[in-house]
Amino acid sequence: MAPMNPPAARDEDALKELIAGELGAVRDRSFGLTTDVLGGDGLTSQVSPLMSPLVWDLAHVGNYEELWLLRAAAGEDAMRPEIDGLYDAFEHPRAERPSLPLLSPDEARAYIGTVRAKVLDSLPAARFDTADPLMSGGFVYGMVVQHEHMHDETMLATHQLRKGAPALLDPVAGTIPHVSSVRSPVDEILIDAGPFRMGTSDDPWAYDNERPVHVVDLPAYYIDAEPVTNAAYIAFMEAGGYDDPRWWDPAGWEWRTSSGKRAPAFWTREGGRWTRRRFGRTESVPPGEPVQHVCWYEADAYARWAGKRLPTEAEWEKAARWDPATGRSRRYPWGEVYEEGRANLGQRALRPSDTGSYPSGASAYGVRRLLGDVWEWTSSDFSGYPGFRSFPYKEYSEVFFGPEYKVLRGGSWATHPLAIRGSFRNWDYPIRRQIFSGFRCARSVPGEAR
Ligand code: AVJ
Ligand code: FE
Repeated sequence: MAPMNPPAARDEDALKELIAGELGAVRDRSFGLTTDVLGGDGLTSQVSPLMSPLVWDLAHVGNYEELWLLRAAAGEDAMRPEIDGLYDAFEHPRAERPSLPLLSPDEARAYIGTVRAKVLDSLPAARFDTADPLMSGGFVYGMVVQHEHMHDETMLATHQLRKGAPALLDPVAGTIPHVSSVRSPVDEILIDAGPFRMGTSDDPWAYDNERPVHVVDLPAYYIDAEPVTNAAYIAFMEAGGYDDPRWWDPAGWEWRTSSGKRAPAFWTREGGRWTRRRFGRTESVPPGEPVQHVCWYEADAYARWAGKRLPTEAEWEKAARWDPATGRSRRYPWGEVYEEGRANLGQRALRPSDTGSYPSGASAYGVRRLLGDVWEWTSSDFSGYPGFRSFPYKEYSEVFFGPEYKVLRGGSWATHPLAIRGSFRNWDYPIRRQIFSGFRCARSVPGEAR
């Protein structure tokens, strides 16, 4: 599908058309998660200290758009400088946001609508064939579209945490395949030893943390063909995995015992079976779906119990992008161009797909479901690649570099296709599980150095 492929839009008019369309599409999505489905309290109250009130996200995406597309790109003056502080994520942690004098839902809608009208007015005069890295290839527009999609995924996590009646329909339930298998045809895949190209230097909408492309040489390793399923995770639970400190990282064991958690988030044991609450509805845990809403410590413990480990970020990316036949890294596991039907992305249904789905999304090595379904925890801390340069602001990535954040890869069912690619890097604290997180395992080849 052409609209998802900014690198393919070589000419400036085509790129502008794509941008205008994607700005409209992401705003429809944002309204579909806020003012279209919830009123007053549902938008202004806080469902968890981990999340912002939804009305904060809504005004924040418009304020970010004003900052980058009107002030930075078009050189305009601030529309409402007095509200900038309210929507600066670094000035106010999420827990504080409900007590701020935020714009009301109506004010927020009016404000972000005015911003958008001005953006569309200024778009025709923008120049993308320039040496200015902010404008080149439409980068800053891509950054703003991706930013709003990321907040839409965050808003979905807020919806998942809400108590009370469901607000979201499962709008297109059935548009993802249900193959109802628990086992993949292949358990794990051997990735041969050797160098590959990690990251990118020429993807016009890639973030600073994906840059620059650099060669990484890895010993051979095995990686799971598909993400770990609920059925496999239940086996770990039934084997006493939550009670055995041997499987847990020391900090993970501390988390396990002090939190008292003994199952993925949103799971309950009912009448001898596991159920889970999803967007206000309760259902049995489907055995063939990837396990979701586990933190890094749980993923790490499962892997050790299974005699494996989490993949490093480089191992994940080589399995996803490297094509040994051509000696190139692909943008997507299946090739250079995004295509519908190769991955469960973009909120097609409010859930991951079953094991065995999307065989056409396999990578050159035959590894499946790397993009979409669930974000996959890796063993790696979030850090800059060799030669990293912060761009266009150090609060996007650089301030998060360090051992306190773990990298997740691949996007989830809630991630929009424009906001994911094989090189994309997400990060979060190892205790977080309100995000749509799962994992797959890896293992070193006996006798190979690591
Ligand atoms: C890339 C998902 C970790 O949500 O904190 C949103 C993205 N940056 N607004 C986040 C982001 C600024 C970021 N993650
Ligand atoms: Fe943001």
